[in-house]
Amino acid sequence: MSVRLSDRLPPHGETNAITQLLDRLLAAGVSVVDLTESNPTRVDLDYPARLLEALSAPASTRYAPEPLGMAEARMAVALDARRRSVAIEPARVVLSASSSESYSWLFKLFCNPGDRVLVPQPSYPLFEHLAHLESVAIEPYALAYHGRWEVDLESVRRGLASGARMIVAVSPNNPTGSCLAGTEADALIALAAEAGVPLVVDEVFADYLLSPRPGCTTDIACRAEGHTGALVVTLGGLSKSVGLPQLKLGWMVFGGDPACVRRAMAGLELIADSYLSVSTPVQLAASALLAEGAAVRTQIQARIEANLAALQLAVAQYPACDVLPVEGGWSAVVRVPATQSEEQLVLTLLEQAHVLVHPGYFFDFAHEAFVVVSLLPPVGAFAPAVNRLLTVASV
Ligand SMILES: Cc1ncc(COP(=O)(O)O)c(C=O)c1O
Repeated sequence: MSVRLSDRLPPHGETNAITQLLDRLLAAGVSVVDLTESNPTRVDLDYPARLLEALSAPASTRYAPEPLGMAEARMAVALDARRRSVAIEPARVVLSASSSESYSWLFKLFCNPGDRVLVPQPSYPLFEHLAHLESVAIEPYALAYHGRWEVDLESVRRGLASGARMIVAVSPNNPTGSCLAGTEADALIALAAEAGVPLVVDEVFADYLLSPRPGCTTDIACRAEGHTGALVVTLGGLSKSVGLPQLKLGWMVFGGDPACVRRAMAGLELIADSYLSVSTPVQLAASALLAEGAAVRTQIQARIEANLAALQLAVAQYPACDVLPVEGGWSAVVRVPATQSEEQLVLTLLEQAHVLVHPGYFFDFAHEAFVVVSLLPPVGAFAPAVNRLLTVASV
């Protein structure tokens, strides 16, 4: 008899057909270009040789836990936000090990088991797993595509009316690359405040803007300042901001009605105090990492710009395909003819073009057929792979 596992775990065991085929090809020595790669440490970026030196500061030998994060690290996050002209009080910053951990803490803070949270659709499937692990369910609200992606506020209203406990927005969103317009941010702040629920805005890709629409916003916690009953939490982290996911430092920034902020931060302090998951060395090094890591961020920005340009150039040769507008982030969505299921297409692309992409259904696109490509791979591998992809997908 095997030991019972909790129902929080997602179904697992069988690998899917895409992974099985990939494993077979790799075992046969086929070289596959991975256009799903989202790990910045695996895409040939030059990390400055001394980037991690600050992690060995002698002061790290002392342990003086601070549940919300050490003052110097919270200050470093607040000062770094000035780069984007965002004014943050260090006292409103809370540190975690990653934005994934921030999500799980926020679910614990605001939701009871069985509660529902509103998440955009399409979006990254991570939220569903993280919510499920906290015994919370997700309920999609629509991002509608009319030449660009817009929040369907009516579906947000419906979700709130049926009792959802949190709104999650992602800007720039993964994978649509869409950013919240200021008017959308204001509408979400007002709807959340009216329903007495927090608005959580995942801004992990806020440093990577490509063609943001006029009026797009990256200062949502500030926008909510002073709004009676509003509570906004924005998320960021070293993982995307300076391409260092392995250092495990994320942050939350609280904004809105001061009374709501105080109450939520006091609750979060209890949660954070139970884990104390952020290491002392990374907190003491935060300021240096954010400053020196700019060299990595610059390379990532150049990389995603070059790859997006190569993708747009290639797609122009294939009238049956198009690239949806990308306002920011590390991925692009390619619309392809729906002549077969997305899963079959991804299998065909692997077999014939030796290119791995994500199918649109992985992100819950409302209809077929889309594939999603990461803009991070080295340009020399990306451009030919995209040409092979389009040759196969356009027929
Ligand atoms: C939109 C979004 N939020 C959060 C994360 C997780 O980031 P972290 O490494 O900080 O947990 C990802 C990972 O790709 C993401 O795409």
